[in-house]
Amino acid sequence: MNMTSSKRMSIFEPSIFGRLKEVAVKQKEQGMEIIDLSIGSPDLPPAKIIRNVLSEKSTSEDVYGYTLGGTERFHQAVVNYYKRRSNVTLNPHTEVLKTMGSQEGLVHLPFAFCDAGDIVLTTNPAYVAYDVGIKMADAIPYEMPLRAENNFLPDLDAIPEDVAKKAKLLILNLPGNPVPAMPTVEFFEKVIAFAKKHNIIVIHDAAYSEFYFSGDRPFSFLSISGAKEVGIEVNSLSKSFSLAGARIAYMVGNKEVIHIMKQLKSNLDYGTFEPIQEAAATALDNAEAITDKLRDEFKKRHHLLTKGLQSLGWNVTPSTGGMFVWANYPFEMNDVDFVLKAIEQTGVVMVPGSAFGTEGKGYVRVALVQDVATLEKAILQLTKLEKTLRI
Ligand SMILES: Cc1ncc(COP(=O)(O)O)c(C=O)c1O
Repeated sequence: MNMTSSKRMSIFEPSIFGRLKEVAVKQKEQGMEIIDLSIGSPDLPPAKIIRNVLSEKSTSEDVYGYTLGGTERFHQAVVNYYKRRSNVTLNPHTEVLKTMGSQEGLVHLPFAFCDAGDIVLTTNPAYVAYDVGIKMADAIPYEMPLRAENNFLPDLDAIPEDVAKKAKLLILNLPGNPVPAMPTVEFFEKVIAFAKKHNIIVIHDAAYSEFYFSGDRPFSFLSISGAKEVGIEVNSLSKSFSLAGARIAYMVGNKEVIHIMKQLKSNLDYGTFEPIQEAAATALDNAEAITDKLRDEFKKRHHLLTKGLQSLGWNVTPSTGGMFVWANYPFEMNDVDFVLKAIEQTGVVMVPGSAFGTEGKGYVRVALVQDVATLEKAILQLTKLEKTLRI
């Protein structure tokens, strides 16, 4: 039989991570130590209190049915977390929607809101899942470049009027992946005014909202006046609470948007295992203690890697948060070749910037997902490139 894929499958290009892994495995087989700084999956275990709830709840007989959506307990924990952390008031019944990881929600959003040919404003570079969702909905991405001269924030004034008119969604992500740009009140205020003027729904992806190193409080888009009128925030327990494998996240904000997404999701999935929702609620209830520890650790890593790479002559994008370092390397080489060469010569695995969009050419993304001692070793290894690549 001839098994052929749909034309739509052309949306899904093979991921660069597969290629990086191939080269890394080959090097490992030859005896090289691999330091993987590629995927932004937290290396810290979830707090014991979270694991305990998950294991205890899992032994109950009555928690194995379909949950259909978010439990009362989970929704209320999200509401309390937003109130405590960001002084945002949410209605647990109409303004919260649980998703199975935030990627699931983000990919489905354009499907629920865009007709064929509608424009979605997104950034370049950006987290790759946005583009997949946009294309699956037959919508058209309009990429706003993230450049140093704008502090790596999109320039809304540069969007042509006819594009803004046709735009249905605007997707933002601060602190960002791959560029760890940080939100500001002024920028969010501008976003809200722009969205109101052009009737555009704002989606703020806050997956890294607890990754702040300068002492500021966690910063929610919804804490800015008028935000709830124009959009939602998508947040996840994957990064902040080391629950990436548990696949639990949520959307909060505008009740019409939440209602439409709820309608779509009620046709797609049957909810999340109840013990996972309980564990996630416990995580949110204990967010301060858990994320204080996380920030302590990631701040050290961020400082070490930034200083280390700078000492090698790399141009590191300044940032006070996020889970990544975004840097220009000082060699005349395209970023894919450079990353592959770095794995071969040093065992350090990074992601080429162009994997996130054309504006990422010449950059690499380095994930802060190893402890300080391992990152020190990574910097030491990278000095080897100095000797072989510098002309
Ligand atoms: C910016 C951003 N948003 C969302 C996600 C998805 O995370 P999850 O589906 O685990 O919630 C990621 C994962 O890397 C990410 O970097």
